[in-house]
Amino acid sequence: MPRSPSIDTKYWPHKKYFEVYHRSMENPEGFWAEEAYKLPWFKTWDKVLDWKPPFARWFVGGQLNASYICVDQHVKTWRKSKVAIYWEGEPGDTRVLSYSTLHREVNRFASVLKNIGIKRGDKVALYLPMIPELPIFMLACGRIGAVHTVIFSGFSAQALADRINDIGAKILITADGSFRRGKLLNLKEIADETVKFTPTIKKVLVVKRTGSGVSMKEGRDLWLDDLLGEAEAHVPPEPMESTDPLYILYTSGTTGKPKGIVHSTGGYLVYNHAAYKWVFDIKEESVYWCTADVGWVTGHSSIVYAPLSHGAAIVMYEGAPDYPGIDRWWDIIEKYGVTIFYTSPTAIRLFMKYGADWLKKYNLSTLELLGSVGEAINPEAWLWYYRNIGEERCPIVDTWWQTETGGIMISATPGIEQLPLKPGSTGLPLPGIEAMVVDENGEPSLTSEKGYLVINKPWPGMLLTIYGNPERYAEAYWRKFPGQFYTGDYATKDSDGYFWVLGRADEVLKVAGHRIGTIELENAAISHPAVAEAAVVGKTDPVKGETIVTFAILREGFEASPTLEQEIKKHYRRVIGPVAIPEEVYFVNRLPKTRSGKIMRRVLKAVASDTDIGDVTTLEDEASVEEVRKAYEELKKGL
Ligand code: PRX
Repeated sequence: MPRSPSIDTKYWPHKKYFEVYHRSMENPEGFWAEEAYKLPWFKTWDKVLDWKPPFARWFVGGQLNASYICVDQHVKTWRKSKVAIYWEGEPGDTRVLSYSTLHREVNRFASVLKNIGIKRGDKVALYLPMIPELPIFMLACGRIGAVHTVIFSGFSAQALADRINDIGAKILITADGSFRRGKLLNLKEIADETVKFTPTIKKVLVVKRTGSGVSMKEGRDLWLDDLLGEAEAHVPPEPMESTDPLYILYTSGTTGKPKGIVHSTGGYLVYNHAAYKWVFDIKEESVYWCTADVGWVTGHSSIVYAPLSHGAAIVMYEGAPDYPGIDRWWDIIEKYGVTIFYTSPTAIRLFMKYGADWLKKYNLSTLELLGSVGEAINPEAWLWYYRNIGEERCPIVDTWWQTETGGIMISATPGIEQLPLKPGSTGLPLPGIEAMVVDENGEPSLTSEKGYLVINKPWPGMLLTIYGNPERYAEAYWRKFPGQFYTGDYATKDSDGYFWVLGRADEVLKVAGHRIGTIELENAAISHPAVAEAAVVGKTDPVKGETIVTFAILREGFEASPTLEQEIKKHYRRVIGPVAIPEEVYFVNRLPKTRSGKIMRRVLKAVASDTDIGDVTTLEDEASVEEVRKAYEELKKGL
């Protein structure tokens, strides 16, 4: 079979995509400079790329400002009266912000930050629900050169404190609460618990969302509304170096400690601006809705920075997709005339479960393009999405990317040219992205042979480093295959050059699209007094893709019981948050291990999912076939 090193232009004769891709490979720096010129810079760069492997610095010497790009440039044009954000709260309340309103608010929020002592380079922690104040604060941070870290509101006080302490954030911004599935979620209470353990946090700024009474600590807690009264109407955007960090976002890896992924200002914005156009074919009249939470990278790039850099109108929704009914999202699409809809396979599978009748009373004819992100979309879900939501009219862009990549890397690119789609495949790499599937030795895999997905060249959206730990950055992404960025995913590439991402090759789970490390989960389990040892695996789930299953060995003196199982689940909620609650906790006497002491996770996974152990000769096994089978039988018997 032929070896296929990268994408080969002979596969598809369509001209435009290959012309652009080819150009990007021939002269990457010239290509990216051309893209960079599409953004307004205060000062252009001296050097496009400074590549000292594994550290890439883009547009060195260039100066720009994220809030200027996302807001100011638009208010200088007719777009000042264009809608920037259509926001809908879960209870049905709405807010519409034009670009000029957004501009005014970003300035006032920036002034508030300055007035409480936040300066360029300071770290600001944002623990907010999906309300307009979240993107406004992100942009306000960017305006004054402060670095934001958004922590998803599904994380607990302890998880929040760990992240704050890792970067030494000066201020925590939260809300009095949020609405979720009709209930009040009291974020302020969690913030209060957090700040007991975060010595660097001097002030807690509170946004009023629910109006539910919260306790405010004199001298530490401040209502945003009170400070806005004193705010200046204009704060000049700070000229930031292209290589200055724009934000830090935590994600899970293969160790217990989440990684603070640091993204640059210039490279990140240039990459996202370009990728967004290629993938979503954004037009002036588009109404774009990405259903992700801003707490994840999808929300950063695909709700805030990329669409706003284009002056697009976005929809933002606070609550649960199935509240008060399973048709909530379709109602929103009809109401705002959404043209581009971007969601996750998990959500699609949830809707599939309820059937297409729910859709009948809605007019979804405004939709032009659909997107999918977060995990592989199975062909059944793809087809359901295509037929029922897209009414066989809208192409689906299945976008592969990661927190680390900053922006979309592999996807269909209707903004350049619509190539044939294959349900379940993410398609071809974006221009400038040299993606490959390699074997254990870093050699290109055979066509359609499973291997590791790697990226050969640096790209502008690439992370700068892991905060405070450049060594871990080099180790996690560049050591396995020297000179190639290791994504941690398995993939295949077919004879047309299309990529099929098969899931994580490392110990990271994807639960309803949320990324969470098994070691982090195991550490949480063993911090419970009853648990001596624990192993965590993902169990295949028809809706969530994977759910968390914990195998636990109890300490002497503790008895397995349903009450203990509940208690351990609650413990997970306390330590990490609701995102980490296992579906099941199995109590076992022994964990299957290889001779070198490595837990045989595939054995656990097969037992948890009640599937056969299957092909035991895959890349991750270091035990013999017999050993794996024996361990599997023993464990099954023991349960
Ligand atoms: O395993 C891949 C999966 O999500 C991982 C990245 O997770 P995170 O950093 O949380 O970012 C998610 C959203 C950008 C990847 O390593 N993944 C993401 N998109 C896809 C995917 N797997 C298959 N197909 C996708 N479209």
